[in-house]
Amino acid sequence: MKKIEAIIRTSKFEEVYEALTEIGIAFMSTYDIKGFGSEHSSSQVYRGTTYSVGFIPRTKIELIATEDHVEEVVETILRVANTGKVGDGKIFIMDVEAVIRIRTGEVGELAL
Ligand SMILES: Nc1ncnc2c1ncn2[C@@H]1O[C@H](COP(=O)(O)OP(=O)(O)OP(=O)(O)O)[C@@H](O)[C@H]1O
Ligand SMILES: [Mg+2]
Repeated sequence: MKKIEAIIRTSKFEEVYEALTEIGIAFMSTYDIKGFGSEHSSSQVYRGTTYSVGFIPRTKIELIATEDHVEEVVETILRVANTGKVGDGKIFIMDVEAVIRIRTGEVGELAL
């Protein structure tokens, strides 16, 4: 199992959410975040003090997928969240050691 974290434009969230639902993703966590990427204009000096102006509202999606779903999830996010302009966001993929459903004690894919 993998954890997929995608930081996307908040304006793309609805569309990405719907596309993921369409491919059968029935669970995810979402967060409103502030972030900045590799833009060099992320700070400005005004009267000798540096202010960060690069924090842009983003939405982070987190979901755990079985290995056979990872590619489809990533492709879907890439397709829908891409505008081609800087700041489209990023996808991080991590190994997941264990998933446990608290109510039943089920472990692994059964717990997804
Ligand atoms: N290395 C990183 N670690 C953690 N979060 C990141 C990282 N890079 C980007 N992010 C998050 O993703 C958001 C969008 O990043 P962004 O798309 O601007 O990345 P970028 O590397 O600058 O690419 P681009 O050239 O497309 O702008 C940021 O606001 C930040 O929240
Ligand atoms: Mg950027």
